[in-house]
Amino acid sequence: MADLVQQLTLAEKAALCIGGSAWAMRGVERLGVPSIVLTDGPHGVRRQQGLDDTGLRGSRPATCFPTGSALAATWDVALLEEVGTALGREARAQGVSVLLGPGANLKRTPLCGRNFEYLSEDPLLSGELAGAWIRGVQAQGVAASLKHFAANNQEHRRYSVDALIDERALRELYLASWERAVAAGAPWTMMCAYNRVNGPLCSEHRELLTDILRGEWGFDGIVMSDWGAVDDRVAALAAGLDLEMPGFGQENDAALARAVAGGRLPEAALDRAAERLLALVERTAVSREEGHAYDAEAHHALAGRAAAAATVLLKNEVGLLPLAPDADIAVVGAFAAAPRYQGSGSSGVNPHRLDDARTALGDRPYVPGYGRHDEAPDPALLDEARAVARGRDAVVVFVGLTEAYETEGYDREHLRLPPAHDALVEAVAEVNANVVVVVANGAPVELPWRDRVPAILEAHLGGQAGGSAIADVLTGAAEPGGRLAETYPARWEDHPLHGIPMGPRVSEYRESVYVGYRLAGADEAFPFGHGLSYTTFAWSELEVGAASVADDGELAVTARLTVTNTGDRAGSDVVQLYVHDAESTAYRPEHELRAFAKVHLEPGASEEVALALDRRAFAFWDPGHHAWLVEPGTFELRAGASARDIRCTATVEVAAGAATVAPSARAAVPGPVPPSSRGAFAALLDRALPENGPDAPGEFTRNTPLADMRRSPVILALIAAMRRHMTEEDGSIEPLFESMLDDAPPRMLPMLTRNVLTPPLVEGLVALANGRAVGGMRRTLSAVFARLSA
Ligand code: BGC
Repeated sequence: MADLVQQLTLAEKAALCIGGSAWAMRGVERLGVPSIVLTDGPHGVRRQQGLDDTGLRGSRPATCFPTGSALAATWDVALLEEVGTALGREARAQGVSVLLGPGANLKRTPLCGRNFEYLSEDPLLSGELAGAWIRGVQAQGVAASLKHFAANNQEHRRYSVDALIDERALRELYLASWERAVAAGAPWTMMCAYNRVNGPLCSEHRELLTDILRGEWGFDGIVMSDWGAVDDRVAALAAGLDLEMPGFGQENDAALARAVAGGRLPEAALDRAAERLLALVERTAVSREEGHAYDAEAHHALAGRAAAAATVLLKNEVGLLPLAPDADIAVVGAFAAAPRYQGSGSSGVNPHRLDDARTALGDRPYVPGYGRHDEAPDPALLDEARAVARGRDAVVVFVGLTEAYETEGYDREHLRLPPAHDALVEAVAEVNANVVVVVANGAPVELPWRDRVPAILEAHLGGQAGGSAIADVLTGAAEPGGRLAETYPARWEDHPLHGIPMGPRVSEYRESVYVGYRLAGADEAFPFGHGLSYTTFAWSELEVGAASVADDGELAVTARLTVTNTGDRAGSDVVQLYVHDAESTAYRPEHELRAFAKVHLEPGASEEVALALDRRAFAFWDPGHHAWLVEPGTFELRAGASARDIRCTATVEVAAGAATVAPSARAAVPGPVPPSSRGAFAALLDRALPENGPDAPGEFTRNTPLADMRRSPVILALIAAMRRHMTEEDGSIEPLFESMLDDAPPRMLPMLTRNVLTPPLVEGLVALANGRAVGGMRRTLSAVFARLSA
């Protein structure tokens, strides 16, 4: 590869480092280096018809698998690898060499509008599952792109917000998810996030992109930008960002070449990026061979199997589920007939076909109960639902979040369902005691009626075969195989993060390491790891061997436990192993998930699971030494069926030795952080918190969100033109694009206008917005806005 780089001109090297359209890298024709195609991702292939098509609609049909949050609820590493394999096959059949996914951002807040694409609130679960997904995709010769690195944990102001995270939370949670995924999946590409982390933009974050990712974790692929995440191309390349995406003009080619010529950027840095990009082209050669096809029927069946495995039986009193074959059942709720099955934004897949539960349940009485896209209850529809529900053996009520509630681009403001959906459950429960509620949603919701109904099935966003999978689970043809991969809070108002500022400029991670189940004592409706089964399981005692310490300091402990299916149906169970540090001098969560195993058992069958723990399972990050530390002493291993349902425990002594550091031998670490205490948080960060008031401080820059620049008339004119530019033929505008009219900063305008607004024009626009006269610029921009509006 180095030889090939030597044959490239400076201009060719620069061109390799910047996309050539919305969805392709540029090749080097003269040397036979092809241009390769990259598309979204993650839960299906979104191959737009044209490589310049920046819209979200009309992509080629593909299998829509369950979204990330659903797949995570399977806790099934082998199944995720299978799904990854299918995704890789579909990608290469469409001539796609890089599939933009999976997403491994940790779920910090349930409000994040994009949580449906992400996996879990726990870094081990998130990282292991992402790794399996990547292995499946890449075994087909297609690169995965693990995204969005790092701390893109909210959509609100995602293009500009600074995530302020103390070193322990960053290492133990947010980075740990990526670290695991890189170790388990060895992705060929990573995508950097839009936001800032403790100051720098991720696209210019040398510590993240180079020191940690490559230096510490050994990542050997390429880093690409999220679409429009690059501000200063030269600074980004120097920090370790190989590929800027997308690319519509040649301004940044010239900027890179000038920087090399002027000595601002060492040519070796450009060579290194070019070399890695050429290696990516080579690694993905199989994806561009002729004749790849896939079996759409088989993929539909796999999507259905995954959707069933993702359903979580939250509650099942009086054994209401599975429904008896001859039961007289009514089906209520418009989601039964017109399902909500994936999230909105760049991940939207155009499915081959779409199953719905109403059809799959056969000939049953059905009423919609609410308008499919309506918020407010409709008394006539509720009456109709009461009427159909009365006197039945059971009623299945389908509710969930509508499309407008959760999308890439903005966050939710609360965790409630649409009022019409809550009202429907209440109305049906008034007239029938045997209510089964099926919930479709990409992230936790409040279930205020949960004590008034006997059965609740969490279906997540199950993809194109989700409807038939739900029917199979309701009738017992399939089991509800899932366990929650995130905590379901009782009420947002009582949530520990409620009231902590998530913007506009700074998102303050004041809770430090106490995220999700890591905070004991929060008011939870259903805990992390929870999920019931149609069968019963018995667990043996937990057996733990002594901790061994190898010469290199590595620690090894194995815990064993036998699971027996004591019921009369086949089923699966998930053993979750949490570690509690009994004698820590540092603040630590009550316990943390350090290993898990899913077993599938026929009635009467048993299986022994072996759960291996290494040094990291006992360690915490010491900000004093910038290193992982294990303190010698007693640790309790807790095997649970959820974070709050510990079934058996055992202790293990970790002796002082090479792998451990005695408390006296290290600098003091801060004591427990009271959540929501700004003072303690600021002390952890060891620096003053930046200005987080409502007004943008100082001058506007290329990185100021448009919403903060609205006092400028030229920006108002721009937004009006952009709005017309983004409006679809049917007069609607995609929620993601609508959010961009507030949150996108000027640096993204070349991408959003396909370079009608070129970088020099953007400079002029920002100068004008700051009240500086730029000769002729006002007139030029008027003409450009007229073109955009046309
Ligand atoms: C999203 C990415 C996506 C890219 C291309 C961005 O706005 O954040 O996840 O891959 O667009 O559609």
